[in-house]
Amino acid sequence: MYPLRIAIINGPNLNLLGKREPGIYGAQSFEEYFSDLHKQFPAVEFTYYQNNVEGELVNELHRVGFDYDGIILNPGAYTHTSVAIGDAIASIKTPVIEVHISNVHAREDFRRISHVSAKARGTICGLGLRGYELAVRYFMP
Ligand code: DQA
Repeated sequence: MYPLRIAIINGPNLNLLGKREPGIYGAQSFEEYFSDLHKQFPAVEFTYYQNNVEGELVNELHRVGFDYDGIILNPGAYTHTSVAIGDAIASIKTPVIEVHISNVHAREDFRRISHVSAKARGTICGLGLRGYELAVRYFMP
């Protein structure tokens, strides 16, 4: 059977999950969580990409944006500033789910602005790392 192909893309500072502000983002590294995801969804073919540089995130969206079944994107702080990432989502074919680990609406005002939400299929925020598995379920047949 044709495996479902899902790309997970994480933006700046998310390489430090587990170490970074654990009261907000939790104590688990993304690598640990990613291996749990593989176990939960053995039939899904995942790729995982993390970068701290805005243009590299745009390049990765272009790379996976035409033949993958779904993209799960946490743009980190670029969510609130990056017109280029919003434009990249609008430019590709693969649907994008925007995920935030923390509840961005319950934090500083600047985190309520997203250049991504209007271009994404939907947004999951505030549910911790579980937001990624809920996004995977959206793409399941
Ligand atoms: C984040 C929320 C952003 O406001 C923040 O800059 C991040 C992480 C989240 O997953 O909760 O880096 O995207």
